[in-house]
Amino acid sequence: MSSGLRKGLTSYGDAGFSLFLRKAFIKAAGYSDDALDRPIVAITDTASDYNPCHGNAPQLIAAIGRGVMLAGGLPMRFPTISIHESFAHPTSMYLRNLMAMDTEEMLRAQPMDAVVLVGGCDKTLPAQLMGAASAGIPAIVVPVGPMVVGHHRGEVLGACTDCRRLWGQHRAGRIDEAEVEAISGRLAPSVGTCMVMGTASTMACMVEAMGLSLPLAAAIPAPQAERLRCGEASGTAAVAMAKAGGPAPASLITAASIRNAMVVLQAIGGSTNGLVHLAAIAGRVGIPLDLDAFDRIGREVPVLVDLKPSGDHYMEHLHQAGGVPRLLRELAPFLDLDAPTVAGGTLRDHAGAAEEVPGQTVVRPRSAPLKPSGGMAVLRGNLAPGGAVIKHAAATPALLKHTGRAVVFESVEDMAARVDDPGLDVSAEDVLVLLNAGPKGAPGMPEAGYLPIPKKLAQAGVKDMVRVSDARMSGTAFGTIVLHVTPESAVGGPLGLVRTGDTVRLDVEARTIDLLVDDAELARRAAEPRTAVRPAPRRGYAKLFHDTVTQADRGCDFDFLIGEAEGETRDLPNSEGNVDG
Ligand code: FES
Repeated sequence: MSSGLRKGLTSYGDAGFSLFLRKAFIKAAGYSDDALDRPIVAITDTASDYNPCHGNAPQLIAAIGRGVMLAGGLPMRFPTISIHESFAHPTSMYLRNLMAMDTEEMLRAQPMDAVVLVGGCDKTLPAQLMGAASAGIPAIVVPVGPMVVGHHRGEVLGACTDCRRLWGQHRAGRIDEAEVEAISGRLAPSVGTCMVMGTASTMACMVEAMGLSLPLAAAIPAPQAERLRCGEASGTAAVAMAKAGGPAPASLITAASIRNAMVVLQAIGGSTNGLVHLAAIAGRVGIPLDLDAFDRIGREVPVLVDLKPSGDHYMEHLHQAGGVPRLLRELAPFLDLDAPTVAGGTLRDHAGAAEEVPGQTVVRPRSAPLKPSGGMAVLRGNLAPGGAVIKHAAATPALLKHTGRAVVFESVEDMAARVDDPGLDVSAEDVLVLLNAGPKGAPGMPEAGYLPIPKKLAQAGVKDMVRVSDARMSGTAFGTIVLHVTPESAVGGPLGLVRTGDTVRLDVEARTIDLLVDDAELARRAAEPRTAVRPAPRRGYAKLFHDTVTQADRGCDFDFLIGEAEGETRDLPNSEGNVDG
């Protein structure tokens, strides 16, 4: 099998010429024959002026490159799409599959023996892993790492749980314009990803638990020197993978590692988005995500990590407490510790590297958990036959069993236009229902599931209400919020049959979400002609997305990308034969 520069030659019908030409061009960059004979470790460069979360990527990539060279490999950095949550219209989720396709095809197209995936902002790590899994290139993940915390008037704060809490206070008139401006300069005080247990942190923790990154890689703060040393060590590990020809991602993304990731997702009180992304990653290697198994895990596995939004602390504190290895050791009875890792050993070795930190309270022992059961529950019922998710660890306990009158918003736009209307007929006991905000409906399943509390109720002191939608929610958000209702309303899911004034019943203990309307009436409503909230797109990526995106339970991946990983796919017909350079 060919390796290094000889892999995946461009097709000119003459493999020797293809290699000759490739070498001629790369020598324009000053490479020697010695360098070009080394195993090639590619490094994805997701630095972008639009992505401050990845602001340390250049230094990190330099450190990874140093590690590659120390181990005798040749680092080759190349750019891919980069997605930041706040700079992605209409939503970052809409672009995740595009980034996954970009990553997959560039891993296939360019010669490399292994790849280091440098990412972190919410959708980037899932996109990169989806692409790498499908391309079959040995891959190791280096997250950019979390931001350090900010401070405001003596209070520790951070992106973006506190963004929402403080903005809520501003909406309620308790924080004025000048103070909210000052706060905006303190919520994200360094480069790196959101430092609460949002989607970025959730993904980094799950990726580490799946053995796809080195120990501690998830939680070392982005600005710290230790992050760079982790990068250097990952570069060195990537060379070992390049020389060994594996493990390929499909050898690491297995039923066992996916289950381990589900255990960790429950134990960290992680982001609901993590479940969608895990379904998409698993789907790339042909493993359907079992939502009911996830729910069962949640009934057994307690929340052990005391981080916002479920708890009090931030990612740098998780790192100081021993990071994911410490958590894995605590979760050992629930995990398959024989699962292999990129480091060449098993998760048992990974957990064995855990440091004992006297007096730390961020990673709780099983005997004194933060919450007795896991962070999330899967709900079913006539409103969500394909399932829905609630992060009950970050909900109001008194609302977990609640029956209320539905107040329906037809779309995100309708909600934005009416939710703060003083004339809106709504009370604190009502259930806010948002339609047409799912994968196809919005499109891109925006993080609109965190419906704002109507202003007149917020000003009266209401902090939480039951909210139901087919949308997602930021991992940094909190509240009694039912998400990912499947199938979504825009494809005919029963959520689309809810009318203002109906009664909705939520019972998290029973794992149910129901619309208390009789079947005959629901059938009558279903037979009524429906008008789409927006016309189906006719061209470009928007059409591809609309026509092929799957529902949340399948990870919102495109239907034609789900399936078995292709494994070693580099020797395409254009590079037939052994090329002797
Ligand atoms: Fe990038 Fe939160 S905005 S991780």
